[in-house]
Amino acid sequence: MVFPIRPIALGLAALVFGALAFERARAGADHYYPPVTDAVTQQECGSCHMAFPPAMLPAASWRRMMGDLANHFGDDASLDAATAERITRYLVASAGDAGGHRYVGKMLRGVSADAAPLRITELPKWIREHDEVPRREWTSKEVGSKANCPACHVDADRGYFEDD
Ligand code: HEC
Ligand code: HEC
Repeated sequence: MVFPIRPIALGLAALVFGALAFERARAGADHYYPPVTDAVTQQECGSCHMAFPPAMLPAASWRRMMGDLANHFGDDASLDAATAERITRYLVASAGDAGGHRYVGKMLRGVSADAAPLRITELPKWIREHDEVPRREWTSKEVGSKANCPACHVDADRGYFEDD
């Protein structure tokens, strides 16, 4: 027997490939995050920056943020109580850990279950995905801030965050 090594190696490669493809399909494309579908949230949270996909943060983050809109990253983003309440309900229901089900493999990877981070751009996965972006890009005239996702992700409003 001279050639069993090759078929075995090929079989193994096929297995590994199949497992990877399966893992991807199950996790959903890494670059898709369902966009905001609630019109009020889109309007009130999409006027100063894009309305960020709710699945990028856990429910505790949205509750914390919505509880202090008067001090929102140096801006006053206050809303009347009924509107704030409605938006909070929507964001919490669509959060990355909605229904106790953590969106594994997505933005919450590496975020501890009791944390309530306020910035997507400070999450470990976000930082890792962007570690090859040259520092000067963030402060360039076209981008200006890490939070300006649509400057680089042209389909961000539709939920697609691939490299384009
Ligand atoms: C009056 C303007 C304004 C409104 C309205 C506003 N924001 Fe913001 N938001 C900001 C500013 C300014 C920042 C900081 C942006 C930066 O770092 O460049 C910010 C940052 C954020 C971030 C963090 C972005 C990051 O760095 O990951 C989130 C999340 C966020 N806002 C959610 C919301 C939500 C939810 C609403 C609606 C309730 C909202 N914002 C409404 C001004 C606003
Ligand atoms: C200066 C341009 C720039 C800005 C601004 C930017 N990104 Fe990115 N982003 C990139 C690049 C480039 C990549 C691809 C990195 C790679 O492929 O290694 C990337 C990758 C990603 C990925 C992973 C995509 C995948 O295929 O796995 C996600 C998710 C993402 N960005 C979300 C965001 C979000 C959310 C924001 C705003 C809060 C943002 N990005 C702001 C340039 C940017």
